[in-house]
Amino acid sequence: MDLSVQKDKLPVHVGFIMDGNGRWAKKRGLPRSLGHKEGAAVFKKIADYCLDLGIKYITFYAFSTENWKRPADEVNAIMDLFDAYLDDVGKYAAKKTRIVFLGDKAPFRKSIRDKMIDIENKTRDFDAMTLMLAMNYGGRDDIVRAAKKAVQLASEGYLKPEDITEDMFSKLLYTEGMPDVDLVIRPSGEYRLSNFLIWQCAYAEYYFSDVLWPDFKTADLDKALEEYASRNRRFGGV
Ligand code: FPP
Repeated sequence: MDLSVQKDKLPVHVGFIMDGNGRWAKKRGLPRSLGHKEGAAVFKKIADYCLDLGIKYITFYAFSTENWKRPADEVNAIMDLFDAYLDDVGKYAAKKTRIVFLGDKAPFRKSIRDKMIDIENKTRDFDAMTLMLAMNYGGRDDIVRAAKKAVQLASEGYLKPEDITEDMFSKLLYTEGMPDVDLVIRPSGEYRLSNFLIWQCAYAEYYFSDVLWPDFKTADLDKALEEYASRNRRFGGV
C-alpha cells in the first residue's frame, strides 16, 4: 500500500468483526476450534500490520455476550486461545501498544481475568496504538451498564438529567476516552453489526467482504482502507 497517499485518509479507529472461522474449518473437514485457532493467528498478523500502517485504535470482536451459548468444547477452545494469547502479550507491550478489554471480565476463568487486569495495568501509558479486544462484549449490554452507572450517580446526587449529554454518556461506556469507530470491517459475507459497539459505530463506514476471517490477508485490509479513503463522510451534514 502506498502510505504517502493514504496516511491522511487513514481511519483513526477500525473495528474488526472476525467472522467465518467455523465455516473455514467446516470447508476443510476440520473441527470448528481449528478455525478459531487460525482466526487468532490472523488477528495477530492484522494487529501488527495496523501498527505498521500507523492506525491508532483497533478493536477486534473476539467473543460476544451471546457466544457463551455455543457448545462447551467450542467455548473452551476459544478460552484456551485467549489464555495462550494473554501469555504472549509482553511482545505487544514491547511495541508500546496499549491493550484494553471491552466487556465484563467476571465470567472468565481466573487465569484469564488476572492476566487481563495485569496487561491493562502494564500497558496503560503506552500510546503507539491502542488495541481493544471485545471479550464478553455486547453493545446493548454496554449501554445498559452505562445507564445503570448514570442512575447510580444520580441517586447519589452527583448527576442531574440536564448533565447527561452524548459526550458525558460516552464516558460511561467500556470505550471511555476512545474515539468513535470510523471503519467497521466484516468479512465472511454477513452484512450485520451483531451487537458490536452499536453506540460507537453511529457514524462508521462499513466494509463487507466474502473472505472468511482465517483467509483475511493484509491485502484485504489494504482494499478496505482504499475504499474507506474514497468515501465521502458527511456526519449528517451536506
Ligand atoms: C466468529 O466466527 C468468531 C468467533 C465467535 C470467535 C472469534 C475468536 C477468535 C478469532 C479467536 C480470538 C483469539 C484471540 C487470541 C483474540 P464463527 O465461529 O461464528 O464462524 P461461522 O459463522 O463460520 O460459524
